[in-house]
Amino acid sequence: MVDQVVMDGILGAYHYDAVNLLQILLKVQSVESENYISEEVASYVADRLGISLSRVYEVVTYFAALSHKPQGKHVIQICNTTVCKLNGFNEVLGWFREALNINAGETTSDGLFTLKLTPCIGACDISPAIKIGHKVYGNLNQEKVGSILSELRGTM
Ligand code: FES
Repeated sequence: MVDQVVMDGILGAYHYDAVNLLQILLKVQSVESENYISEEVASYVADRLGISLSRVYEVVTYFAALSHKPQGKHVIQICNTTVCKLNGFNEVLGWFREALNINAGETTSDGLFTLKLTPCIGACDISPAIKIGHKVYGNLNQEKVGSILSELRGTM
């Protein structure tokens, strides 16, 4: 689990207020070595905020940016909603699957990348689009996908 001092620092920064639950969980996940909300962490957050564990899991399972399973350092969220489906979602998914040798929902053996599908990320005007962390990439083609992966691997 993330160090309790770190956890309390994050919770304190959000005033131990459950209104900030999503932001708290995003921050905690970002400092977790396996990039997810473990059961232990979920229980700690619930306890410290005075809310139920099921409330924490409602948020963790609802938002695509959160995970209750270990994930890679970089989570590649591929939009599979209508506009992106019409503009090349299948090709984009195929390029990432081929380049990383994993399917959606899986993590590369080096722990660097996880592929996920996500509902609309609000970038329909540049579809097909993906989101990695807070950054959105659009108008994707195979070359761009290769560049993104090289950049994230630090080989560019
Ligand atoms: S449908 Fe893909 S970004 Fe909106």
